[in-house]
Amino acid sequence: MSIIEIKNISFSYNNTDLALSNVSLSIPQGKYVTIVGHNGSGKSTIAKCIIGLLQTSHGEIIVDGLPLNLENVDEIRSKVGLVFQNPDNQFIGSTVRDDIAFGLENHRVDPKEMDGIIERFASAVGMSDYLNFEPTKLSGGQKQRVAIAGALSMAPQILILDEATSMLDPKGKAEVNDLVKQLHEQTNMTIISITHDIEEAYQSDVVYVMNEGQVLDYGHPHEVLAQEALLKSIKLDIPFALKFKYALKSVGIDVPQTTLEGMVEHL
Ligand SMILES: Nc1ncnc2c1ncn2[C@@H]1O[C@H](COP(=O)(O)OP(=O)(O)OP(=O)(O)O)[C@@H](O)[C@H]1O
Ligand SMILES: [Mg+2]
Repeated sequence: MSIIEIKNISFSYNNTDLALSNVSLSIPQGKYVTIVGHNGSGKSTIAKCIIGLLQTSHGEIIVDGLPLNLENVDEIRSKVGLVFQNPDNQFIGSTVRDDIAFGLENHRVDPKEMDGIIERFASAVGMSDYLNFEPTKLSGGQKQRVAIAGALSMAPQILILDEATSMLDPKGKAEVNDLVKQLHEQTNMTIISITHDIEEAYQSDVVYVMNEGQVLDYGHPHEVLAQEALLKSIKLDIPFALKFKYALKSVGIDVPQTTLEGMVEHL
């Protein structure tokens, strides 16, 4: 079953150039889906269309069975958590606790339940010890963890991360990626990660490749991301495991596996 069904949507910021041109996506319930594509290919625009921040000119968006329209937009937003690229633009409160509470207040959560919810999600992202810290005093990775805790505390069915790790150092990036993977394994939350990290995409269940406002291809990353010429033509790299596989092939060693572990075992 698809939790998000996007059918033939188009969108233009200026009524001339199409940021999205006849885009269709089907996001299976409970899967970890990545969207890759060069700068300006329309990835963030899709995320903004899904929560009704931008209004499409054509097509249809259905979230958890609800068609996106004025009547349903609030209910749809309550099902979707969004984490953006820049952790510094996502804080309102003066402490981590206030910040998470702010989102809950907006969702009219019973104040009596609030502390419990805050503590539960701070713990889920490993930030329990930082609840009374000022957000500005946290590292980039810690800020993104708090942003994720804030998004999760609203109990969304779908978590959309729009390059949530792109401003982080390798350690912060790995921390947040591990956290997302863990969340996906422990809950049946659907995750949509918009990413420039082809290695992350390789680990996902389904990958969509965007180019110039269109979906170029989609499917299992081990097949979609194996198309070296196609990816090179839109300035994307192929995953390391596949580079390794092709390098082996070039010296006459053909292995059927598509993961590094699998190939090493085979050899
Ligand atoms: N606020 C805006 N006003 C006008 N044009 C915009 C705006 N935001 C994006 N665009 C244009 O829409 C197209 C798609 O942009 P979008 O931000 O969706 O790309 P993206 O794939 O998220 O890129 P990136 O990887 O750089 O984040 C681009 O051509 C971009 O210039
Ligand atoms: Mg973007």
